[in-house]
Amino acid sequence: MTNISDWMYSDIVKDHFMHPRNVLTDESTFQPDGKGIIGNIKCGDEMIVVIKVDKEKGTIKECKWKTYGCASAIASTSVLSELAIGKTLEAAYHLTSKDIAAALGGLPEHKIHCSVLGDKALRAAIDDYYSRNGMTDKIQQEQAHIICQCLGITDAEIEHAVLEGARTYLELQERTKIGTVCGKCKEKSLHLLELYKEKYFKT
Ligand code: FES
Repeated sequence: MTNISDWMYSDIVKDHFMHPRNVLTDESTFQPDGKGIIGNIKCGDEMIVVIKVDKEKGTIKECKWKTYGCASAIASTSVLSELAIGKTLEAAYHLTSKDIAAALGGLPEHKIHCSVLGDKALRAAIDDYYSRNGMTDKIQQEQAHIICQCLGITDAEIEHAVLEGARTYLELQERTKIGTVCGKCKEKSLHLLELYKEKYFKT
């Protein structure tokens, strides 16, 4: 049974939800250097992240976003945009849902997955920037293999989720949202779940 305290949000989460930072209000006037879209508008959690890059420094100078996700997704992406601005592309690429949760003063455990959409969309935006600027050797997403076509979830993300503690299909879904649209990826993801458990945790 879910405890009432599981639903309590930190003051920082509430502040970012009520006053989200760096929201993309007018897509038609923002000229991004990179754009990432994750999720599916049909299931109500599409996330768009756009960035502008200081090309000399290799840092993110603007990071804006738009989502139709829940309160946790809004607060997570708001704080993510603040974390990303001023960082090098490389450092921003490696921001994780743990960094987001820490910056928010914690997120309820079952809401951690809501922060996943924002950081994935940011990585997609950075990859898009690399692609537009002929830096294809830096694109990391293409080196991974997409397992869930609906949500663009790769084998590398399943591996990452297992390393972070997912041991069952439900735990994998809580961390990545895999299989929550059409479900056709379930068999492949179950296979990979077992494979990575075997690889890292069987003695
Ligand atoms: S392929 Fe549809 S939910 Fe994964």
